[in-house]
Amino acid sequence: MLTVDRLCVDIGRSRILGDVSLRVAAQEVVCLVGRNGAGKTTTLRTIMGYLAPTSGTIDFDGRRLNGLPTHAIAAIGVAFSPEEGGIFGGLTVGENIEIATWTRASRRSPAERMEQAYAVFPNLRRYASRGGTQISGGERKMLSIARALALDPELLLLDEPFEGLSPSIIPAVGRGIAAVTRLGPGILLAESNIHHVPEYASRLYVIERGEIVFSGSVADARRDPHVFRIAGGTP
Ligand SMILES: Nc1ncnc2c1ncn2[C@@H]1O[C@H](COP(=O)(O)OP(=O)(O)OP(=O)(O)O)[C@@H](O)[C@H]1O
Ligand SMILES: [Mg+2]
Repeated sequence: MLTVDRLCVDIGRSRILGDVSLRVAAQEVVCLVGRNGAGKTTTLRTIMGYLAPTSGTIDFDGRRLNGLPTHAIAAIGVAFSPEEGGIFGGLTVGENIEIATWTRASRRSPAERMEQAYAVFPNLRRYASRGGTQISGGERKMLSIARALALDPELLLLDEPFEGLSPSIIPAVGRGIAAVTRLGPGILLAESNIHHVPEYASRLYVIERGEIVFSGSVADARRDPHVFRIAGGTP
């Protein structure tokens, strides 16, 4: 469904991504694992149309995404939950979710899509009328994922959903993401450490210095000491 082929991205005179190729099939959960600065966010932002590739292609369900503006990519059904959340602080929790239902037309009504987002993250329902800045960091992360889900996406890009969260909130975020996987969108999840790759991920790519250095199962990545170390693994 998503096919990224030999993607190169330059920022200024630096090559940030070099020949990144990856695929995510319909309903598949795939992880992109790499250390800080490896190029995970750059990959996701380029897929989402925030950055223009120097070369290479991004195709989704037979449509070329590179060259399209971000709103058109969202309307096609690709949703993004950025690492920093991207919550609109001036809007309430409910309004943040509601906005996504306008961004993309779908067979499901806005009310159904809001209901689904609240079902995945029940805390958010209680805080629906709070401002986007009046909730905790963990709840903002949930809101960011809930908002992406309310787009009714075919593909969900999640950038380090557990990064910076207090340990007490991580299980709730994890349960929410597990629930999202059962709703059926494909997921590309960026993660800095192989130990945090969820068990429902079918495959992973390991990225280092803007290049994909491994593609395969989590078990195979664990068996390769070099790959395991690059992916943040500790014996
Ligand atoms: N706007 C920018 N200008 C210059 N360099 C940038 C810019 N954005 C990213 N980079 C560089 O590109 C490389 C990849 O960064 P990227 O944010 O994609 O990594 P990442 O894997 O998401 O890391 P992290 O785990 O810290 O989120 C890094 O070396 C970073 O310094
Ligand atoms: Mg990043």
